Amino acid sequence: MGKGSGFGKVILFGEHFVVHGIPGIVSAIDSTANAVVKKSIEKIDVTDERKGSKGYAKEKKLQQFESINRMIKKMNLLPNIGGLNIWLGGSLPGFSGLGASAASSVAIARAIAEEFALSVSNQEINEIAFEAEKAYAGNPSGIDNTAATFGGLLWFEKNLAGGPNKIEEISLKEPVEIVIGSTGIVANTKAMVEGVEERKKTDPQKYIPLFQEAKVLAINARKEIQNFDLLKVGELLSINHGLLRDIGVSCKELDHLVDVARGQGAYGAKLTGGGGGGCMVALTPGKNLQEKVAIAIENEGFEVLRTKIGVKRI
Ligand code: PMV
Repeated sequence: MGKGSGFGKVILFGEHFVVHGIPGIVSAIDSTANAVVKKSIEKIDVTDERKGSKGYAKEKKLQQFESINRMIKKMNLLPNIGGLNIWLGGSLPGFSGLGASAASSVAIARAIAEEFALSVSNQEINEIAFEAEKAYAGNPSGIDNTAATFGGLLWFEKNLAGGPNKIEEISLKEPVEIVIGSTGIVANTKAMVEGVEERKKTDPQKYIPLFQEAKVLAINARKEIQNFDLLKVGELLSINHGLLRDIGVSCKELDHLVDVARGQGAYGAKLTGGGGGGCMVALTPGKNLQEKVAIAIENEGFEVLRTKIGVKRI
């Protein structure tokens, strides 16, 4: 029996833009996906007991199956692998937008490595999980699997020429409370990413300046995070939400969650991840503000995760 885990993540700045080489900022959260893997004779069988995973659409199940096959191939375990019994659980809910797919891929890759007594470095786990992410995201940037593998608060820049991505740790004076609100809508990241690509191609005059703005925003956000100026960081988060709306990846539920959070005093709020459903993140320093915002969102009938950014990496 092999075991493994991967961090959930929240993208603070730059989702979608990162796919096109614009820098992004991502933080692991202190919730993980955990996997247990046992060799079996016949087929791949997944028991998914993650909170929220029942809402997983049939489409996601197919993507999950494809992602596991991609990992097995990348780990050179074909053709003699037989079957696998995979159990998935952990504290990370299966909400879209929290990197649930990447966290589970990292967990499964680590568990497979342990079950087959393979010595696999974290860098290799990251590469295997990137391969798995292609099943979910089509043309992923790699930001999710990087956060899921290494944890921490990271600056991420995809190398569009295919070389190594730029990954740098950002220091945060202390962990800060956030609230994640789930729209309950299972979003299709692949379709969202393709939609942005398509619209950027057909309307470059609108899109190229927005991408430039996203770049400047990420650079400024990094400075303000390092200065621990949380009010400024919050302001920039809200500006980032505006950019994401402009590129067509928000939806009325996400906009509503952002408004509720800001109305309750959150320093800033935005959609996080692929959008089109999935989750919103609000910056709510201190337990009291976090609770106030979380309760307001729950009172509106949405599920919430109370967590922190800037938790220590593995
Ligand atoms: O929805 P998630 O948690 O899988 O996040 C996707 C992030 C994107 O920037 C939209 C895609 C990517 O590969 O970076």
